Amino acid sequence: MLTAYTYSQARLVDAAGVDLILVGDSVANVCLGYETTLPVTMDQMLTFAAAVRRGTERALVVGDLPFLSYTVSVPGAIRNAGRFMKEAAVDAVKLEGGIEVQDTVAAIVRAGIPVMGHIGLTPQTVSKLGGYKVQGKSALAARHLVDAAIALEDAGAFALVLECVPSDVTEQITDRLEIPTIGIGAGPHTDGQVLVFHDLLGLGRGQFQPRFVKRYAELGELAVQAIQQFVTEVKDGSFPAPEHGFAMKRGEGERLPEALSKPRRGAVGDGLVAGVDDDEP
Ligand code: KIV
Repeated sequence: MLTAYTYSQARLVDAAGVDLILVGDSVANVCLGYETTLPVTMDQMLTFAAAVRRGTERALVVGDLPFLSYTVSVPGAIRNAGRFMKEAAVDAVKLEGGIEVQDTVAAIVRAGIPVMGHIGLTPQTVSKLGGYKVQGKSALAARHLVDAAIALEDAGAFALVLECVPSDVTEQITDRLEIPTIGIGAGPHTDGQVLVFHDLLGLGRGQFQPRFVKRYAELGELAVQAIQQFVTEVKDGSFPAPEHGFAMKRGEGERLPEALSKPRRGAVGDGLVAGVDDDEP
């Protein structure tokens, strides 16, 4: 699984053969520049999800329910999950939390909407967790995570994201569940892995990079170099070259001085008729 937030990103991810595309609320950090995922709204998520849907032919698209969109009330949660399905045509939704969201997950699933769970480090409750910290490091905390995973499976979740969980704990959870686990900073004992698009491609220039991220490319650096080249070429006049421009119709160039010497177009009786430019740019 990989995140994507736009039409063009989704096309790349889909073409690369990723099975699931998550329209993550991490869009708040990597696209909107917020410090946390909390500010992104349901309406904004719908815009990103609809764009991803349009760019996806093959992968399963999962819409991430944003902060407070599913915890105020169960009917509200069903309504927002339903908006993802109706307005953005996603295939499933994801939400964060353990036993406390079990009833909500069950209700959304009963409404016919597939739900992916997300436990461990849950960025929407970062304040409650006391920061971006690995979860389940003590035996008791690990036990809570195992219980939460089982509760979510019992509630009908079709898959479970484990974020920043010790590998041993991940292994215990994966072994106990029928549904697939998908890890991020959770070690190798999962059925799948997920990363954020910008992290994998090295697009988060200068931004904090968690230890669990592997950068498979440095597209941010490449982009800066390409843009610098553009700036240089515009300044030195080598861009645009003749092949980037358009010519007038044959013979019209010679008639231009005469046309320009006539009264301004639109003036009464100017005698000029606007031509139709039919060339494709
Ligand atoms: O929003 C997101 O990108 C996520 C992944 C990190 C799992 O929830």
